[in-house]
Order: sequence, then structure tokens, then C-alpha cells
Amino acid sequence: MAPHLDLQTLVQLHLTDVDRELDDEPLRIVEGALPDGLEGTLYRNGPGRFTRGPVRFDHPFDGDGHVVAVRFADGRCSARSRFVQTRELDEEQAAGRLLYRGFGTQRPGGLLANAFRMRFRNAANTNVVFHAGQLRALWEGGAPHLLDPHSLATRGEDHLGGLLAPRGAMRALGVAGTFSAHPRHDAVTGELWNFGLRWGVGQSLVVYVIDAGGHARVVAEHSLRELSFIHDMALTSRYVVIAAPAVRFDVLQMLFGMTPPVRALHAREQEGLALWLIPRSGGAPIIIPGPPGFAFHLAGAYDLPDGRVVCDLALMPGLPDLADVARTMGPEADGGALGALTRMTVDPIARRAQTEVVSSVAIEMPATAVASPHPYSDVWAVAVPPGRLQPYHSSLVRVTPDRQQHVLRDFFPALPSEPILVPRPGARHDADAWLLTFLHHPGAAAELLVLDAATLETQARARFPIAIPPGLHGSWVGA
Ligand SMILES: [Fe+2]
Repeated sequence: MAPHLDLQTLVQLHLTDVDRELDDEPLRIVEGALPDGLEGTLYRNGPGRFTRGPVRFDHPFDGDGHVVAVRFADGRCSARSRFVQTRELDEEQAAGRLLYRGFGTQRPGGLLANAFRMRFRNAANTNVVFHAGQLRALWEGGAPHLLDPHSLATRGEDHLGGLLAPRGAMRALGVAGTFSAHPRHDAVTGELWNFGLRWGVGQSLVVYVIDAGGHARVVAEHSLRELSFIHDMALTSRYVVIAAPAVRFDVLQMLFGMTPPVRALHAREQEGLALWLIPRSGGAPIIIPGPPGFAFHLAGAYDLPDGRVVCDLALMPGLPDLADVARTMGPEADGGALGALTRMTVDPIARRAQTEVVSSVAIEMPATAVASPHPYSDVWAVAVPPGRLQPYHSSLVRVTPDRQQHVLRDFFPALPSEPILVPRPGARHDADAWLLTFLHHPGAAAELLVLDAATLETQARARFPIAIPPGLHGSWVGA
């Protein structure tokens, strides 16, 4: 590590626009060999362009969604990539300038140019999920976009057969319902479960399910006291699990154009988060008070035979300063964005939870190799190596919560993306799997890594022809 490490410069180097889209281009294997049996497609999404004409977005989360598909067959792999061509992107490209507000970027022109403009640019950049023959690019502030699973061409916004169509006061503004970027597959029923927030005069959390045949329906709708920032969910055989932080969006602040959403987020410092167990059969959520702190991501959740529920989350001490990512990652950061894998064991009858930090390693983007709703024994995540106080997640870690053990591998100054686990054929335990990730080198071509999930040792490393900015989420679709 350089003695005068400038993380802000590194972060800026990572946030460079993608040069060009990829057209089924073979990736050169530069180490090891692709394992036999790894056959299918790895889809990943993330912000890939941070500029519109001469304007640079103020926030990396506003970057245009760039979906990469890496196809594995016969010991080789190739990559195709496409930007998600949203309606807002079409209009802005035709106009040659920025027309829409984003999560962290205002329209140029001050208050007047932003007030009452509540249709935001759908960045379509957070996740990409395949279900019932349909591939969707997801962004939690709006509707999903359907993509052609092979060409990645954008087919258009998907309102789930009308379930997400604008309604009430939002109709005049053309603001659709939202569909979060973190749906969960149920490996037993073949369903895809998700939630979204509806807002306008009141606000609510809506639970959706898309069955194995692709038909979507609303399972439940629960009103919220105020609009909150809920990013992820987990799924057990009985519940949809939500970790609702003590955070509110000041809708008036956004409505009157004073700030972008990222600066309208406020934490209620004295309150902890609330764990919601929403019965999959419908009915009122069971709300359980949790520890103080903030969580973007849940690793997973499962039911215990005695009726309790285990839920693991990447818990940060408080709401990090999301408005300026580079500064948050800079040398003055107080570590507020460093999370720890935390296990909540919930008794839904007594409405109590036992909370325990199960690893001291700072993590984000937790994942499991076992599909919902089955119990798992291991969690993988991107991580900050012990001793570093800035949230620059240059490591991957495997954590075994029951034994409070971990295996860590660092890639500094490269950044690994979210780990995606692919169980080996006939796998007998969680770590009998391959870990797929992209490795993002600041200012240089990205790489694809296939690691042994148990040891994190390299099985294969392949090079992309282009640099790809650090992405958000993705998924694996077996051949
Ligand atoms: Fe996420």
C-alpha cells in the first residue's frame, strides 16, 4: 500500500465512462483455466457512464445502467454489454443535454429548473435478474426494464401487467410505482418475490410476487408513517424480511427542488432499525425493534424449526454520508460506512430479537451460495481488510457465522464486485462452489475472476477488452 494513499483519486479513476459496448468478444484467459461444469451466463449491472454532454453527474449512483453478460461454454467465455436504453436516456441523447433529475444530481438551473419535477431519470443500473424467461434491469426508484436475454437490447419499461402503472396524484406527473433492485428467487416454489415503495399523498410498501409462469400479483400493501429508504429484502419459507432503517426522505425538500433525493435523507439518530416479518400468506407485518444503525443489504434469512427466524445483515453504525461517495471514502472518513455482518435471531411471538455481531471484518454486498428459503452456513461479501479505516472494499471474504471464522483475500488497489456464488454440480456443502466476480482496476481493463469459494484461490482469471467501473449487482443463469 502506498504510504500516502489517496483513495479519492482512486475512486475517481474507477468512475470513468465505459468506452464502448462489447459484442460477444472472447475474454483472454490470463491465469488458470475455466472449470469443467461452469456453463451458463453471468449477468452484471452497474453505472457505466457518468456524463451527459459536458455535464458530469454529481453522484455515481446516477450513472447509466451498463449490463454485461459473460457467457461460459466449452471452457471459454465471451462478453456482450449494452447500456439500458431508458426513455429518459433516449430523450437526453436526442437533446444532447441533461433533462432529468437523478438520485444525486439536479438539473442545471437551480431551484426553478428542479421544483415539481418528480419524474426522475430511471438509471436502470442496480441489478439484472432473469426470471420466467424474462431479463429485467432494476432500479429501486422506478419500474424495471425488460431486456432481450441474448442481445441485451432494451425492450422497454415493464409495469408488471399494470401493477406499477402511475396512480393517484402521481398520474399527472407520470411517476410509476417502484420495484426494488433486490428481488429473491424461491428455489422451492419457483417464484420471484420483491417489494416496492408507493408514494404520493401517502406512502406504502407493496410486496409483489411473479410466479414461475411470469404472472405478477400484489401480495400485500402496508402503509408507512413516512417515506423511508429501504433497499433490500430476504425471503424465508414463511416471511418476506425487511430491515427498515430509522431514516426518512423529506419529500417536500425534493418536491420544491431544493435538493436531490440523496440530500433529502435524514436519520432519526435515537432510533434503531425495525425488522419487518411480512407473512407470505398476506396479513399484517410483525415489526420487531432492532439495533441502532443502517443497512443496505441483507445476506439472507431462514426459518428455524422452532419458529424463530435468522436474519443476517451488513449493519453500519449509522446512515453514511451518501451524498459524496469520494469524500466518504477519503482519508477523513470516520468509518461510518463500514458495516459488520450482524445476526438477528428473531422470535416473532415474543416480538424480540437477539442481535450479535458475527464477524469483525467490515463488509458490504453479502451473498450466499444457497438459494432462498433454505438455511445456509456461509456468507461471502466484499470487505475492507482489517486495520483500514476507509470503506474501500478491495477484499473478498468468506464468513462462517456459526464459528465466527473468516477467510479473506485482498486485491488492492483493484476492487472486486459483489461475489456471485455458483454451487458445483452435486455440491455437498455451501463452500463447494465457484465464486464469480469482476475485478475492477483503476483506469485499466477489468477482469473476470473464478475463485474457489472455500479458499478464495484463483481458478481462472480472464481479461475484458475494456475498463468497467465497479458495478452493483447481478445474477447467474445456468445453461
Ligand atoms: Fe444493493
